[in-house]
Amino acid sequence: MSAPAEGGFLGRARALDAADPLRGFRERFALPRDERGAPLVYLCGHSLGLEPLSARALVNEELDAWAQRAVEGHEHGARPWVPYHQNLAAGLAALAGASSSEVVAMNSLTVNLHLMLASFYRPQGKRRRILIEAGAFSSDRHAVASQLVWHGLDPAQALIELAPVAGADLIEPGALEDAIAGYGAELALVLWPGVQFRSGQSFDLGRIVRAAHAAGAIAGFDLAHSIGNVPLTLHDSDADFAVWCSYKYLNGGPGAIGGCFVHERHARAQSRGAHGGALPGARLAGWWGHEQETRFRMESDFRAAAGADAWQVSNPPILAAAPLLASLMIFAAAGLERLRAKSVALTDFMDELLQPLAPQVAVITPRVAEERGCQLSLRIAGGVGPGRRVFEGLRAGGVVCDWRSPDIMRVAPVPLYNRFEDVALFAERLGQLLAERA
Ligand SMILES: Cc1ncc(COP(=O)(O)O)c(C=O)c1O
Repeated sequence: MSAPAEGGFLGRARALDAADPLRGFRERFALPRDERGAPLVYLCGHSLGLEPLSARALVNEELDAWAQRAVEGHEHGARPWVPYHQNLAAGLAALAGASSSEVVAMNSLTVNLHLMLASFYRPQGKRRRILIEAGAFSSDRHAVASQLVWHGLDPAQALIELAPVAGADLIEPGALEDAIAGYGAELALVLWPGVQFRSGQSFDLGRIVRAAHAAGAIAGFDLAHSIGNVPLTLHDSDADFAVWCSYKYLNGGPGAIGGCFVHERHARAQSRGAHGGALPGARLAGWWGHEQETRFRMESDFRAAAGADAWQVSNPPILAAAPLLASLMIFAAAGLERLRAKSVALTDFMDELLQPLAPQVAVITPRVAEERGCQLSLRIAGGVGPGRRVFEGLRAGGVVCDWRSPDIMRVAPVPLYNRFEDVALFAERLGQLLAERA
């Protein structure tokens, strides 16, 4: 095994960058550097997206509004705070494949998941089990298990964790459908990732919804690794609910405000004047879910806002929402179709450069574009110790990616700010490290 010839793939990468219609968007982001000021090859947007340079101005606008207007900033100024979340709705809706009234920016992912489960998980009779993936993101599992306990159920019985077949890293979509059909009338809810955080496998959400609905179950999704990464059609797919965070592909910054999708058929069927309605469960309410026009009358009667807005509980963190607005403006300018086309090309390029490094490097993410976003998950031969040494060697060589236990290295070329050259530099450094240890 040896590293591919430098001139060849670096030259190709530079030519691809020169022809890339989106190449200018990289300049709209703060590009991280090492302690000595040298540029890093950042391939970690699946964990924390880069800072849009325009975020500072939008955050400063709100700091200035606070300084100058104080409490009156709630209703006055360029972007009054009371309806601030509405500035985010169109951009989020475009990325989610939903209408603006079906999405809302609020809270963080796990909090939103709890709010959704409160509405959509109501165990009845035999129909009480929740299906998730084995090895789900820890926070999702904690949320689901604690909801079961909250309902007086034992997760050992009520939680189903579907694993890939022995020795495999990926779940066959057909096996998921079979499991859903098999549990049938016992199944209350399926919670599934759009893109699995460890393997990078992307699922056809419509297929999962159809299988869940055929079994009489609710279909909800964790889109932490999907939104801003792969095209989504939540409305047309008939998904019941979805939740996401905004600090990964959405570039909203650390701890950014999260998001939520509620299909309009549920919002419409839910009583506007009460906390229960057509959903399986009740909605956990707060004043920010009350319609805006009459909220400040502070009356005891609740009148739900239209659409997903009704699931808001508290007034949102404006300073954690402003960077997301900056990023959504960049998404709108770049265009989803163009971003996806570049994403596929970047990831295919990375995959191509990694293939000659086999068997020292195994790409566990599916090789078909429809079954992955931009993240590739790699397993380095030799086990955890040698794998981690390669990972640390990459960081020492200026490449930022991440490690997910037990033995996976994740790398993501993000079309908004990564270049084909970043991919080539990563492959070159990885090849060198592997050659050194051979
Ligand atoms: C797949 C997935 N689910 C849930 C979470 C938890 O997010 P939060 O801390 O916003 O609740 C994360 C965070 O990275 C995640 O990647």
